[in-house]
Amino acid sequence: MNSPQTTRLDAAHFDAKARKWDENPAFRERGEKLAQAIRQAVHLGQHMSALDYGSGTGLLSFPLKDELGSILLADSSGGMLDVAAKKIAEQGVRNMATLKLDLLADPPPAQRFDLIYTSMTLHHVPDTDQILRIFHDLLNPGGTLCIADLDKEDGSFHGPEVDVHHGFERADLTRRAEKAGFGEIRFQTVFSIAKESETGSRDYPVFLMTARRAS
Ligand SMILES: C[S@@+](CC[C@H](N)C(=O)[O-])C[C@H]1O[C@@H](n2cnc3c(N)ncnc32)[C@H](O)[C@@H]1O
Repeated sequence: MNSPQTTRLDAAHFDAKARKWDENPAFRERGEKLAQAIRQAVHLGQHMSALDYGSGTGLLSFPLKDELGSILLADSSGGMLDVAAKKIAEQGVRNMATLKLDLLADPPPAQRFDLIYTSMTLHHVPDTDQILRIFHDLLNPGGTLCIADLDKEDGSFHGPEVDVHHGFERADLTRRAEKAGFGEIRFQTVFSIAKESETGSRDYPVFLMTARRAS
């Protein structure tokens, strides 16, 4: 990240995409597949409080809402959260709320969570070590962190002009999560995103990492 010729995809970028986000069937399908992977990896329960960080419009959280006690949808894009809030109101959902939040810039919420999950957001967050430490502090002891993101790629997923992490090496992310205080770190490949380019079609695998806060 941080090359002078590149731009970050900031809140204004996602604000502009928000209204049509759910029209993309690939995004909806991604939410369903990741929800299923979380269900299989974590013992969910209606006593649990969850944080969906970088929630977007809530495409991962809506499929999980009946299996969790409460879900806070947090995102730095007010536009994304407006769409999420509208869906919550329209569907009469009583256990989901939204919060505009950038954990690298804003004070963390006072609430603590049993589960934090984040889908395709970590590569947008500049300081991976800092966000992992904050996630650790926001979890109750014994709580679980689930990160879904791209495996290491060559930068072609977003293109050379976009300033993001080019996916993550699983071994490197494991070391960083351990340094932040996590244990029982496991990875699985959930699906791949196919993208067309001038040189043909290309697959970008998406992993789900689960990790536990011990104490
Ligand atoms: C690729 S979208 C994924 C949205 C959603 N998780 C999904 O899978 O549909 C990335 C999301 O992360 C949010 N985001 C990016 N940087 C963030 C930050 N520092 N803090 C909170 N949210 C952030 C964006 O606003 C956007 O909603």
